[in-house]
Amino acid sequence: MTQPAAQLETEIARRRTFAIISHPDAGKTTITEKLLLYGGAIQEAGSVTAKEGRSHTKSDWMSIEQQRGISISSSALTFEYRGRHVNLLDTPGHQDFSEDTYRTLTAADSALMVLDAARGVQTQTEKLFAVCRNRGIPILTFVNKMDRPALDPFELIAQVEETLKITVVPLTWPIGDGPDFRGVYDLQTAQVLAFERTSGGKHRAPMQTAGLDDPQLDALVGRDLAAKLRADVELIQGAMPEFEASAFLAGELTPVFFGSAMNNFGVEHFLSNFVELAPSPGAALTNQGERDPEAPFAGFIFKLQANMSKQHRDRTAYMRVMSGHFERGMDVTHTRTGRKLRLSQAHTLFAQDREKVEEAYPGDIVGLVNPGVFQIGDVVSVDGKLLLPSFPRFTPETFATIALKDVGKRKAFMKGLTQLAEEGVVQVFYPTDGARDPYLGAVGPLQFEVFQARLAEEYGVEVEMNVTSYALVRWLAGDPSNVARFARHVEDDQGRPVMLFRSKYDLEYTAEQHPEIEFLPLPKDL
Ligand code: G4P
Repeated sequence: MTQPAAQLETEIARRRTFAIISHPDAGKTTITEKLLLYGGAIQEAGSVTAKEGRSHTKSDWMSIEQQRGISISSSALTFEYRGRHVNLLDTPGHQDFSEDTYRTLTAADSALMVLDAARGVQTQTEKLFAVCRNRGIPILTFVNKMDRPALDPFELIAQVEETLKITVVPLTWPIGDGPDFRGVYDLQTAQVLAFERTSGGKHRAPMQTAGLDDPQLDALVGRDLAAKLRADVELIQGAMPEFEASAFLAGELTPVFFGSAMNNFGVEHFLSNFVELAPSPGAALTNQGERDPEAPFAGFIFKLQANMSKQHRDRTAYMRVMSGHFERGMDVTHTRTGRKLRLSQAHTLFAQDREKVEEAYPGDIVGLVNPGVFQIGDVVSVDGKLLLPSFPRFTPETFATIALKDVGKRKAFMKGLTQLAEEGVVQVFYPTDGARDPYLGAVGPLQFEVFQARLAEEYGVEVEMNVTSYALVRWLAGDPSNVARFARHVEDDQGRPVMLFRSKYDLEYTAEQHPEIEFLPLPKDL
């Protein structure tokens, strides 16, 4: 069945695919939950899954995530809002899981940066922001936790502009903070949205509105805060740049909203603005030039996940539709291998609940059962020749040796090692003599723990791990026999020669002593 072009165009135009970037604890999980609430995907915030009196979104499904209360894996949550089809790519929040997050960001058309009103820009925000910047995607900002003592909003804006080098334009303005938080002023509609605390923050908060000159404003927010608001607005209108859609779409300007996700305040207002401002899927850069979303079907794999749930012990490849109309069961070509595939096992994922997907459009995320064919960055298409530019990979900063406790489990061990490395849980480096145990590379030690726990839980394999003193890795160019005599000469999972170092000094010393060794530059600094 081919689709009329007009329908494809309409579906593309109403798609909004985005990801949330934030430092752990800024409120990403809470906002995700509230967006789903307003999007009608769940009835009541907190109904998703209970975690000791606190809710956790459906995307947090693995037991280790529940134990630690962090989100490790990414999945896509989908809902309809005001005629728009919104795909929210759930990105893991913990700073140790950045590789997965980086990959997920390659599938987003825009990003929401969530800041803690008291903390402003934090380290993880900065890193993730840089990835979005590199991709040139538009970024919206939500300043969360206004119900707590917050930085002065002018100061916060200055901090964002200074650290992230982006123009900031507030679209709402907070009235008070902490216990005095009274709501926000919508600078576009010139209306005050008053904040009323509701018990538990479970339901949609009722909202009263008033204009700036409205005598009711004083009663609504108090005299002092009303006076301060009038002064602030005058200052903003006199001194701050106006919102400019083209600068926003180019990633040079971020519109800012204020609120309190936990109290359901400001999230729906954000969402209603988001669906108007954020872009629909655009052209993707490929080896064949720009791929228009209206071109025939093509999709790329941005994430792999093994053992999604106990009932379905399989591997899932997440595909983002780049162009055209996807239909379940369609025949495509897998560019890297040239193989013809039938995409019959497709599903969308709302955590454990799988729904068969019959069709999808550009910007949508489809989970494909992966019989070991797919790698990150792979393209499938009906016309067969498309490839993507290289995918971001993280450079590991900590390394552990890994040894199998029961040698009888070698086969399961190798399977787990390969599949978890494929997912990007860790990177694996193999000693070239084949006799010694492999090294694992990670950005932070928590990744090792996750690896160990998942190996035990999903593959029944116990391993012993020891963190080594290695702290740097460099890929090598030139003749690999130059480095053969070094014990710390290893190979990555694609057989490329690599050397490990204990420190920057160690690397510099080795380079000086052995000019015959050539190091490749690191992948683009992220
Ligand atoms: P994350 O995914 O970005 O890591 O953040 P998450 O939503 O888990 O929120 C981190 C903490 O901040 C949570 O508290 C959450 O309840 C709280 N929080 C989120 N939004 C707001 C807000 O608007 N105002 C206030 N005051 N707090 C907010 P927690 O202590 O981890 O859990 P809980 O004890 O509150 O359940």
